[in-house]
Amino acid sequence: MQVISIVSSKGGVGKTTLTSALAVMAASEGKRVALVDLDPQGSLESWLDRRAGDDLSFMDAEKASEAVDEIDEAQYDLLFIDTPPAFITTIEDAIGASDLVIIPLRASALDILASEDAVLMARAADVAHLCVINDAESRWKTTEAASKYLSAAKVPVAKTIVTHRAAYLGAMTAGKTGPEIDKTGTARDEISGLWSEIKAVLAKAKRGAKSRV
Ligand SMILES: Nc1ncnc2c1ncn2[C@@H]1O[C@H](COP(=O)(O)OP(=O)(O)O)[C@@H](O)[C@H]1O
Ligand SMILES: [Mg+2]
Repeated sequence: MQVISIVSSKGGVGKTTLTSALAVMAASEGKRVALVDLDPQGSLESWLDRRAGDDLSFMDAEKASEAVDEIDEAQYDLLFIDTPPAFITTIEDAIGASDLVIIPLRASALDILASEDAVLMARAADVAHLCVINDAESRWKTTEAASKYLSAAKVPVAKTIVTHRAAYLGAMTAGKTGPEIDKTGTARDEISGLWSEIKAVLAKAKRGAKSRV
């Protein structure tokens, strides 16, 4: 089993949206997927309650390290952990319990600054990490500028950019994900492109410090 946590000290960057979309994409490939929602707001859990079908399992846990200790690793291929903003101890614990940390951000200076906390924590814990530019207007110059800025700072950033689309927003209400309802197929291309990049990083990733002790 591999553990992916989706982390940012900032709210509203797309953690829950991307967690759900990536988990569903992985499950559609036949992976056995479990989810943990560490955000007290419980958005991921309530999304799953609205979801029809049983392609994803939910696990109750207060901390990521506790979830990893308690789960039967032979039963799942992947554990996705959605995290709250600002709760630094919870975020640090999630990073330490992960094979890979996904850091969503919008293409703005404020979001780039906010993403630095997560990048520094992942670096300190020696855990693979990947920034993902989300909710982007591809026509805006800031989108490309953000990507270039992160690459210049040697921060790993996904080539796939997740664009601002009504499908991502609307899907959550119905317990679905952007790719499942976007008739243009763009959301599917984006999330499957992102998932391919994530799998390439996961192939080389190792579990963080918290779970090695
Ligand atoms: N790519 C996107 N396109 C359109 N809306 C998005 C996109 N990503 C996120 N959103 C919307 O932005 C808001 C914040 O996203 P959410 O996933 O809840 O962020 P977080 O979990 O980081 O707080 C939600 O209303 C969500 O539907
Ligand atoms: Mg959230």
